[in-house]
Amino acid sequence: MLVTGKQILDAARAGGYAVGAFNCHTLDMVTAVVEVATAERAPVIIQFTEGSIKTNGWEYCSAVARTAAIGAPVPVAIHLDHGPNFETVLRAIRHGFTSVMIDGSELPYAENVAVTRKVVEAAHAAGVSVEAEIGHVGGVEDDQGSVHGWMTEPADAEQFWQDAGMDYLATAFGTAHGFYKEEPKLDLDRVSLIARRVHIPLVMHGGSGVPDEQVLAAIARGICKFNVATELKDAWARALRTFLNENPDEMDPRRVMAPARTAVKNVVRDKIRLCGSAGKA
Ligand code: 13P
Repeated sequence: MLVTGKQILDAARAGGYAVGAFNCHTLDMVTAVVEVATAERAPVIIQFTEGSIKTNGWEYCSAVARTAAIGAPVPVAIHLDHGPNFETVLRAIRHGFTSVMIDGSELPYAENVAVTRKVVEAAHAAGVSVEAEIGHVGGVEDDQGSVHGWMTEPADAEQFWQDAGMDYLATAFGTAHGFYKEEPKLDLDRVSLIARRVHIPLVMHGGSGVPDEQVLAAIARGICKFNVATELKDAWARALRTFLNENPDEMDPRRVMAPARTAVKNVVRDKIRLCGSAGKA
């Protein structure tokens, strides 16, 4: 069933678990994610960056994701990841997304508030939920964002929530987009301090490569949306490469693509179970 991000994430916050938000770079990944969520009886969030939408087109992203979500027996939200401006957010709303991120995290505070408020007004009028970010998660996500991040200050997060009124808040506490060069050391106390002041679901970007015990600790302290992109791409590409190296003459796309799809599904299943959302739908 197609639902809003807020419906899924408010339930996660109340239940003390997180929900996986999986970046889909191909349309085949959308159905793979929904199949796993269905098998795990888990709510799930399908997300697209503007870059993936440019590759496949708004119409196809929307049509495939909405068909998969509407037909699923579990709650599925369709989310715009790292919406760069008001216009792109409006396109997502017009194409039937049920959740949008406006990423003003690199703007001066007043500008971040202004654009987020504008998005909140428009999205809420259309029944769509909103994610916004304060502090900045570093690393580059699908050509967007800058390499260097800075941590979210708990007092700023509270002010931002009150000034802009988003439904869930992306926070920076030591994660980064892409794989880590060395093991990340998350500032988990910062998550607790933010959660004490900001009474909406918190979002963790840069989920790939974070050790399981740190993910679990972050969820215990208030993370409700767990974003994963790089690990899906990595699993997909490795499986495809291995298959083609071992079967250089195979050319049937159904057989060539099958191991990559299975590899993506395995990552999604692991992350859903790690989040504690299996069995929650
Ligand atoms: P990773 O690519 O590090 O998993 O980050 C995903 C993300 O945060 C998408 O917004």
